[in-house]
Amino acid sequence: MGPSGSGKSTLLSIIGGLEPPTSGRVRLDGIDPYAGDDAARAAFRNRRVGFVFQEHHLLAGCTALDNVVVPALARGRVTNAIAVRAARLLDRVGLASRAHHSPAALSGGERQRVAVARALLMSPRLVLADEPTGQLDSRAAAAVTDLLVELASESGGMLIVVTHAEAVAARVGTIRRLVDGRLLDGAARDGGPAS
Ligand SMILES: Nc1ncnc2c1ncn2[C@@H]1O[C@H](COP(=O)(O)OP(=O)(O)OP(=O)(O)O)[C@@H](O)[C@H]1O
Ligand SMILES: [Mg+2]
Repeated sequence: MGPSGSGKSTLLSIIGGLEPPTSGRVRLDGIDPYAGDDAARAAFRNRRVGFVFQEHHLLAGCTALDNVVVPALARGRVTNAIAVRAARLLDRVGLASRAHHSPAALSGGERQRVAVARALLMSPRLVLADEPTGQLDSRAAAAVTDLLVELASESGGMLIVVTHAEAVAARVGTIRRLVDGRLLDGAARDGGPAS
């Protein structure tokens, strides 16, 4: 959490292998995404990181199910196991009956749930969500956040959520605050170090 312009999105981009830091290092499972070339960085993102953005960034010409499968395309063909997992994830986010709809035919909350399923498809170690519920009413925001927390923990991944909403933050384990590009010391709730 932190004021607008404090650097939340920038921090997520750096952690997720989208934007190199001007100082400091990023390591996830011992791997520095900025140590190799662009292809290595892309592979890092594809294998280890799932992104959920404020704007869902779904492909308009594709069905909900096809959108969920997109991260698998970067690795070649879509195996049977991947297709099954995509369908299962859509079911988990409550959209089994909407699998063949295009994003335009879905509500904002439904689109965000498709984006959540897409981010989880490859069982990433790290899920980064940048105001994933910014455009949703409080009930839909709570539902999307609960899904993120539940699915990320099921696949054994870490989850970092940027949010302006205290009610969303309260559903995640540890709250850290960013001010003027700096993380304030200490956690708001559990008192433990940032992990
Ligand atoms: N690509 C960029 N190049 C240079 N400066 C940038 C770039 N992107 C963001 N900034 C600046 O860095 C600062 C942090 O921006 P950032 O987008 O990370 O903030 P934020 O905390 O996500 O804000 P918001 O809550 O409004 O999304 C801002 O001053 C912004 O103008
Ligand atoms: Mg931002």
